[in-house]
Amino acid sequence: MYFIANWKMYGNLSSLNSLDKVIKFSKSKEINKGRLIYCPPYTLISSFSKKFQNCQIGIGAQNCHENDDYGPHTGFINPRMLKNIGAQFVIIGHSENRKKGENDSLINLKIKSALKAKLKVIFCIGETLIEKKRKKTRLILSRQIKNGLKNIKNNSNIFIAYEPVWAIGTGIIPKSNDLLKTVEFIKNKFKKKKPRVLYGGSVSSENIKNLKKINNIDGYLIGGASQNSKKFIDIVKKTYS
Ligand code: 13P
Repeated sequence: MYFIANWKMYGNLSSLNSLDKVIKFSKSKEINKGRLIYCPPYTLISSFSKKFQNCQIGIGAQNCHENDDYGPHTGFINPRMLKNIGAQFVIIGHSENRKKGENDSLINLKIKSALKAKLKVIFCIGETLIEKKRKKTRLILSRQIKNGLKNIKNNSNIFIAYEPVWAIGTGIIPKSNDLLKTVEFIKNKFKKKKPRVLYGGSVSSENIKNLKKINNIDGYLIGGASQNSKKFIDIVKKTYS
């Protein structure tokens, strides 16, 4: 199981101290088969990666530019630069960025570029509340997968994170049976190799007891709760207890 912490636009150098607990936990037996990955803001990737030098915790970024090479793009970071400072993963297509105008074809370019730089991609998909109410979930997910992964033949370095927009930061999670069916639907889109599918949206140390019963989920993309080491560790512990 993968437990991926998306810190969004939170954290500064003083946050590094809070990682000691998680590093200790990552070396204990209690972590079981869990794999921890942190995606802090760009400004902290380098320091996190140094901090994690002697443990198994992975590190990733929350976005990247669609060009895999250097160029005149003020304010942006390409996947090569991320790789260079120790990132192994990158989140692409998060709904908070889709909302700001990132469309499927831009996301497709970003994924290709990240794969070229040998980063593993956490590709986010999910429907909005209106789309859910209009019963368009499957249509939206199909479109996002088809266009986002256009001309990408090998999906072995791609994780799909199903994050219903209405579940992010709201404390609401999908009904267990709906989530089971949606994850199955996503996996069935892939004929040959099924990708790992993560769930994201209000995952907490309280609702993990229910989420863990959904047996086709391969891990979680965790926002708010991941910024608190105790809560993050609790989520992992409860997944295996
Ligand atoms: P929350 O866990 O805060 O709902 O955020 C989920 C998310 O957007 C992770 O990418």
